[in-house]
Amino acid sequence: MQANRLSFDVKPNAHPMDEASRLKAFENLGFGTLFSDHMAVVRWSADKGWHGAEITARAPFPIDPASSVLHYAQEIFEGMKAYRTADGRAVLFRPEENARRFNDSARRMAMPELPEADFLAAVEALVRIDAKWIPEGEGSLYLRPFMFASETFLGVRPSKEYIFCVIASPVGPYFKGGAKPVKIWVSETYTRAAAGGTGAAKCGGNYAASLVAQSEAAAQGCDQVVFLDAAEHRWIEELGGMNVFFVMQDGSITTPPLGGTILPGITRKSLVALAREEGFTVNEERYSFDQWKADVESGKVTEAFACGTAAVVAGIGTVKHSGGEFRIGNGETGPVTGKLREALVGIQRGTREDRHHWVRAI
Ligand code: PLP
Ligand code: COI
Repeated sequence: MQANRLSFDVKPNAHPMDEASRLKAFENLGFGTLFSDHMAVVRWSADKGWHGAEITARAPFPIDPASSVLHYAQEIFEGMKAYRTADGRAVLFRPEENARRFNDSARRMAMPELPEADFLAAVEALVRIDAKWIPEGEGSLYLRPFMFASETFLGVRPSKEYIFCVIASPVGPYFKGGAKPVKIWVSETYTRAAAGGTGAAKCGGNYAASLVAQSEAAAQGCDQVVFLDAAEHRWIEELGGMNVFFVMQDGSITTPPLGGTILPGITRKSLVALAREEGFTVNEERYSFDQWKADVESGKVTEAFACGTAAVVAGIGTVKHSGGEFRIGNGETGPVTGKLREALVGIQRGTREDRHHWVRAI
């Protein structure tokens, strides 16, 4: 076990983007296409442990064609955001949850754990040096910590070398339609994760396996795919990159339980807590697609929404499946969805009291 905290060698980018170009790029922010000037890098090897921590100019990695990540996909990542609050502070939202989940993923993928304090130090050092990359207003600086196997070796066993890196991307809305409710496609052909698999880990392979279903959703004119369970193809699990909630007419809220096949979302966990504080009964229980359809038809379900760091809280307006499609409520974002979104975003932006101390200033 490593006793000492990592110390980051800071090498400022000699050619940062000029301010006029950056502000111009901020005018039309989408998701994940623009990147800040720096990155954080830490290396791990079986003999040295974690070492070589640095903040340096964002640049490509030279990768050997036999690098094991290219063959066996030993890779994990996180998704988090730095926000600019109304009073000008740069803040993170529950970053220690990301640090913890990163290590949960690392264990599942037979990768070394990065001490939580070092994970947080890397993220904070990057946000500090690239603070001007946090957009004002509704945008945020999306942070992508990730780790991949970098040993040059084709045998099938855990790598003996890894690179941990954090990059930053100023982002606007994840969905092209902005705050408009999304349309989702129910995948009846493909599933995302089975019991004993990697569904609860945030590993690249889960997303690679979801892309064909996401492409099917796009071909059906939908924004996202919703997966059913792998055993019975019956129970709703989650979307390609978001958790899902259902709002009932009786004022209760249902969300699929964490059972190892879905990602334990930090937004999900936060919304469960906020909804309970607002007086809603939240049930974390299995809910079938057939039941959902019937409950929408009978008016028992009045709203549904997707949530995640990238997507925030997005109302689900329409659901399409092989047998047709149905609209939820009047197809617009519902009042409960709006209220929970406001509560969450208010805390993240510093306009609401942060009773749980979820926000961490940098
Ligand atoms: N589910 C999947 C598959 C995801 O990729 C994400 C996004 O990170 C989530 C759920 C939501 O997780 P979080 O709220 O921690 O961003
Ligand atoms: C996130 O919300 O951070 C994710 O990783 C999901 C992905 C759709 C970008």
